[in-house]
Amino acid sequence: MNPNLPYLHPYPFEKLAQLKHGITPPHDKAHISLSIGEPTHPTPHFIEETLLTHIQGLGVYPTTKGILELRMAIAGWLSKRFQIPVDALDPDTQVLPVSGTREALFSIAQCVVDASGGEKPVVIMPNPFYQIYEGAALLAGAEPYFVNSTEATGYLPDFDSVPERIWRRCQLLYICSPGNPSGAVMGQADHVKLLDLADKYDFIIASDECYSELYDDETQPPVGLLETAHRIGNSAFKRCVVFHSLSKRSNAPGLRSGFVAGDAEVLQPYFQYRTYQGCAMPLPTQHASIKAWQDEHHVLENRRL
Ligand SMILES: Cc1ncc(COP(=O)(O)O)c(C=O)c1O
Repeated sequence: MNPNLPYLHPYPFEKLAQLKHGITPPHDKAHISLSIGEPTHPTPHFIEETLLTHIQGLGVYPTTKGILELRMAIAGWLSKRFQIPVDALDPDTQVLPVSGTREALFSIAQCVVDASGGEKPVVIMPNPFYQIYEGAALLAGAEPYFVNSTEATGYLPDFDSVPERIWRRCQLLYICSPGNPSGAVMGQADHVKLLDLADKYDFIIASDECYSELYDDETQPPVGLLETAHRIGNSAFKRCVVFHSLSKRSNAPGLRSGFVAGDAEVLQPYFQYRTYQGCAMPLPTQHASIKAWQDEHHVLENRRL
């Protein structure tokens, strides 16, 4: 067996089920669900309908890269949402569909971490954090390094607390904005600081932006890492990979649809890795996703709800 497998912790909901086993809740108290964080509103009809219209697509093997129409819809959405010029993103080399961001957040570490050197590599992540980051680091043979997010830093990770010896060993940094579970949002200055560190110490930033469309001020949507990179002249998005999902934005967690976008030099080997992993998105899902990325009305309504 892979010697890193025993390091993986049980998933939190398994732990929770064990903790709750045999406990009878008091009858006079209402249940407060702190479980998996599923959207409570239905998936928009047009997404379901598009899926059904293209259901015959189940008869063909989908490609890992996905159809160009989907990658163009994604690049178009990124460009509009994050004020990135439309020709700044190449749908052919800088965008890949993924079957939900969870699998991608996990597999990116398996692809980019090099544990063959003398010193154990480090993967830095916020604390508290989405548990996939830790498991991904452990299975990739890296040491997870947790950066606390406390009241003192507005519930954002306190990156100033990371010692230089850790930055030197860092190969991958996970960030999450808006953050799970705090909801804290990183600003451009936070991104710039991390981009400088990534350049200095040569690591990749995996920016989990799957909650980017859930905000309460229509005039101030959360900034994205690619947006900041482009603004400061990193037009090739070097060392940046962002993760977006239809699960939260479109109330469609069962669709298993998201994408990664950014540095072509990272995405090319990651694409090759994915062809072996065999996680291509089914064609009906791709068509439904195109429609979902092209529509903002349902997202606005989702925010209102
Ligand atoms: C922070 C964070 N990232 C990623 C995901 C994965 O979402 P999905 O795989 O549905 O895109 C979740 C799901 O709850 C999450 O909370």
